[in-house]
Amino acid sequence: MYVRFVDRAAELSILLGLAERGSGVPIYLYGPEGCGKTRLLRELVARLREHSSYLVAYIDALEERDPGRAVAGSDELRRLILDAVRSAGGGPLGVILVYAVARVLASIERRLVEGRHVVIVVDDVARPLGLDSVEAYVKSLLRLVEYDLAEKNPASVLVVASTSEGLSLEKLKRHPTWVSVKLLWGLPREGFEELAGLLGAPGTELVGDVWRFTGGNPRALIQIATVYQWNIKAWLRDLDASIIVPVLAEAKARGLLAELREVLEDPDSIITSATPGLQQVGQLLVEHNLLIYKAIATLTGESIPANQELGIGRYYAWQLPAYRILLRKHLQGQLGTPAW
Ligand SMILES: Nc1ncnc2c1ncn2[C@@H]1O[C@H](COP(=O)(O)OP(=O)(O)OP(=O)(O)O)[C@@H](O)[C@H]1O
Ligand SMILES: [Mg+2]
Repeated sequence: MYVRFVDRAAELSILLGLAERGSGVPIYLYGPEGCGKTRLLRELVARLREHSSYLVAYIDALEERDPGRAVAGSDELRRLILDAVRSAGGGPLGVILVYAVARVLASIERRLVEGRHVVIVVDDVARPLGLDSVEAYVKSLLRLVEYDLAEKNPASVLVVASTSEGLSLEKLKRHPTWVSVKLLWGLPREGFEELAGLLGAPGTELVGDVWRFTGGNPRALIQIATVYQWNIKAWLRDLDASIIVPVLAEAKARGLLAELREVLEDPDSIITSATPGLQQVGQLLVEHNLLIYKAIATLTGESIPANQELGIGRYYAWQLPAYRILLRKHLQGQLGTPAW
């Protein structure tokens, strides 16, 4: 379901400013699954592509079948990228796309770039590439910004890559000068309520409950509204069966339940206590995208404040508060008799 874009005025304005002035290093936009990265970046591209002084491309690196759907932006650049995709060898489309855009930009004609603002967005870059290639790829984006495009005298260059893969961040944290990592979080309460209203939320009390379980995640909200018709219980049941139970089983098999309890109390214990067991359970939860490292500034330069009720620590947070609530109920033996 496609709902009107809400909130994010500050983030969009920062990105528009960066698009106009350029950024000396690529921006790596990172945040929980479904927090709104793609939507924000698509809004940015939609606003810029109409202006002839901007040369814009958006690549959806998760597209598996149709290159035409995966590439948006200025016509001339879109055409070049699609030609490069067509002439590439075999392999997964996402991989072909991300390398095609880098290749096209490395050798793009000067006349297309000179005097224009170049804005390139590679969305969901880490998944098709895999962790082994993400570092090298990001380095190649940096080379584009520093040399290949810069040499063609653009008015400015902005390259943004996005991901929700926490492990890719681990890799990139080793190269702090290659990218500027920025955190995007779910919607703030007001924006969340506005979106809930647009989705026809039946009442403010229920919206409050959805907030408590989702912490402002727009995808989870849309899912609860559309797929589950506001039946939070049914949504939780499915989340439990598909995500929580398998992770819990793995934690149990690896003898990590005591550590899991600790992380449920305080996600920062992974860092502040840092025993091998805590680190292992942290790795497991990050790998499964249940937990996310969040001690990173947002686009607006703020940090997401700790919030115990929503499971947000200073360093780590649960991607959805619901994960923590469900895991807790399991570990308290309330499996068959959930009290929500
Ligand atoms: N500001 C917003 N206004 C309205 N809808 C939004 C907003 N942000 C996100 N959404 C909607 O929420 C859903 C999830 O957003 P989006 O796809 O951008 O998440 P994401 O962070 O890219 O997730 P992933 O990490 O899985 O790629 C989409 O349906 C999107 O249209
Ligand atoms: Mg996305």
